[in-house]
Parts: sequence; structure tokens; C-alpha cells
Amino acid sequence: MVNSDVKDISLAAKGKLRIEWAWKTMPVLASIETRFAKEKPLKGVRLAACLHVTTETANLARVLKAGGAEVAVCASNPLSTQDDVAAAIVKEYGISCYAIKGENHETYYEHIRKTLALEPTVTMDDGADLVSTIHKDYKQLIPKILGGTEETTTGVIRLKSMAAEGVLKYPILAVNDADTKHLFDNRYGTGQSTVDGIVRATNRLMSGSYFVVAGYGMCGKGVAMRASGMGAHVIVTEVEPVRALEAVMDGYSVMPMDEACALGDIFCTVTGDIHVIRSEHFLKMKDGAIVSNAGHFNVELDLATLDKHTKSKRTIRDFVEEFTLTNGRSIYVLGDGRLINLAAAEGHPSSVMDMSFANQALGTEYVVKNHKKLEKKVYTIPAEIDREIARLKLVSMGIHIDTLTAEQQKYLGAWEHGT
Ligand code: ADE
Repeated sequence: MVNSDVKDISLAAKGKLRIEWAWKTMPVLASIETRFAKEKPLKGVRLAACLHVTTETANLARVLKAGGAEVAVCASNPLSTQDDVAAAIVKEYGISCYAIKGENHETYYEHIRKTLALEPTVTMDDGADLVSTIHKDYKQLIPKILGGTEETTTGVIRLKSMAAEGVLKYPILAVNDADTKHLFDNRYGTGQSTVDGIVRATNRLMSGSYFVVAGYGMCGKGVAMRASGMGAHVIVTEVEPVRALEAVMDGYSVMPMDEACALGDIFCTVTGDIHVIRSEHFLKMKDGAIVSNAGHFNVELDLATLDKHTKSKRTIRDFVEEFTLTNGRSIYVLGDGRLINLAAAEGHPSSVMDMSFANQALGTEYVVKNHKKLEKKVYTIPAEIDREIARLKLVSMGIHIDTLTAEQQKYLGAWEHGT
């Protein structure tokens, strides 16, 4: 049975066209679909997926269904849903979907609960809200769950702390830890889509601006690289010395937020941690500063303390909230401090999600086939899956690479040779 709670089912035809457009640059997932349709490796699986409801997610859901799974999808963020896609998932592809762009906190969790009515045997998460809801409020479902997958850095961190505390009750494959995920999706995907979101929301010129990136993990590296590529002067803030050093050697200015806050025209947090920009920073910002977040949760900007110093607020354009402070300056917060690349733009482009979601599809198949061998831990995607996805992506791009000669292979295995 197909169930749903979407904004407007009549948007389905428009959503289908956009899903088909994305599919044109998802060749790795397409090759998996062909095999899944033949072999049905997910036959009998009931799969609950808590993901950003985008054109790419719709294609993943179709592939999982082609593999034999019964699928239900809900949003992994209240602001990331594409309403036409949610409608198409239901009406065009016959998959249950619960997601409305702009849903409040209560509806967000109600949608997770509705997805759990499927009584999943496999979970697929982006941020671990689905898994944590199961572990807190739906423990009765756990005995039937074979395992799950997790898409993002923040979710993997949460799940690893559950495992460390001994409370994780089934195995999880960390899709984020695959090289074909974080080296590409986190860097090139977040880099492009975050700058895209900021530009769509503000229509401001990057060139010549002072752009502060908080956090220099893979996502921060991508954002810094793309902002710099558009002519911004990039300033990086970091807490980890090796990453800070990398940022210096990549050519960026590095300093504490306490100094950067007075210099930036545009700010973007990508740390995965809480209250990275706080009241002491907001109060030192220039008049007109633009503040955004591309980390998973909306906790990186301390908006509650910003409110305390705010005289008046208004929405000045879509996804742009003007805060006029008691010091007379105005600060512009984008997308309520939620993932700006999904709130104001469309998330990562499909050709990079192709690899992330190939990991999701093959990771799910791996969990289903190997769950008896897996412990209640967080596992990295097996290296063979990771390499095969890279190989398929290269083939789809028409790129050939060298292979080791027998002599080279032997040399690499020998320790006797010196100068
Ligand atoms: N996360 C970032 N971009 C995404 C996209 N386009 N679809 C699903 N999840 C995403």
C-alpha cells in the first residue's frame, strides 16, 4: 500500500521530469538498477529511508524498489524537501513518502513515525534521526532489523557514540566513510551546492568579498575552494591544528572566529558542532554581513542569542531573514541556519550523488547478505565496493587508466630492493 503526506500531489508530473533529468547523470546507479531488476537482491526487505527528498533520492528509492524492496521515504531535514519530487515519488513511482518543505519539528518527527509504520527490516539514514528515534521510542522494531546505512559525517559521529556507549542495537554501514562518498560528495558536492545556495538566496557577488568558512573538513575544503574560485578572499577558522595548517598551505588566511567575525562579508559554518558563531561574534560583524550554515544540523549558529540582541526582524527575500541589532547593524541569516545548499538550492548535483547513492544501494545489499556476520557496530563500506564504484564511474566518463605490469606488482611486494 502506498501512503503519503506531501504538500501537493498535483506537482508529481513536474517532479518526474526533474527526476528524469537527474537520472541522466547517474550512470553508476543505473548499472546497479539493471542488475537489481534482474537479481532482486532486496526481495522481502522493508526499507525505511530518512533522506533529503530530492531528485537524486527519488532515483535511489526507485532502484531499491527495482531490487525488490518495499520502500518508505521521509525527510531528513525540515527544509530540504523538494515538494514536486515528494509528489512524484508517491504518484509516479508508487513509493510511500512523508515530507513537506518547511514542516515544523512536530511534523518532521510525525513523518519519521509514519515511515516506521512500515516495520522496516533495513534503515537508511542521513543524520541518524531515524535510528535514534527507533532506539528511543520504537525498540519493539529492533529484533526484525537486519542493519542500516548512514549517509553523513554527523550521523556517523552520532552512531559511533551510540556504539561506544553500547546502546547501538544493530549494525550500520557508514556510507560517508567510503572514499567514493566523502572525497567527492562532501568536497565537490557541498562546495558547489553551498555556493549555489548562498548565491540563489542573496544574488550577491562572490568576487572580492571576504568569505569566512568555519571548519576545514572535506565539506569546508569544498566550500573554500569554490568561493575562492569565484574570486572571494577566503578566511578559514578551525580548531584542529593539522586541518588549520592544510588551510594555510592551501593559501587561505586562518584565524579564530573572534577575529574573522569583524572581517567577513559572508559566513558559512561547516563544522558539525554547536554554536560556532555566537552572540560575541554577531555583535562584532559588519553591517550587512550574511551568515549561513552548511553543516547537517541547525545548531552551528546560535540564533537564540542573536535574538536577544535583535531590535527587529523581517524576511527580506526568500531564505533571507534580516536581524536589526541593538547596535544598529543588520545581519542577514540564510535559511533559518539550516543546510543552505538544500534549503535555497537543490543539494549536490546528481553526478556526485550517483556515487554516494551507489554506496547506499550496494551497502544495503551487503547488509542484507551479511547481517548474520555483522556485530552491533559501525562498519566502513567494504573496500571492494568502494573501488568498484570508482571503476564504474570512470568507465561512465570514458576514462581509462593504467594497470600494474607483472614486474611492477612484484616490485611492490618485495622489500629487498634499495637504491
Ligand atoms: N545531500 C546533499 N545533496 C543531496 C541531494 N541532492 N540529494 C540527497 N541528499 C543530499
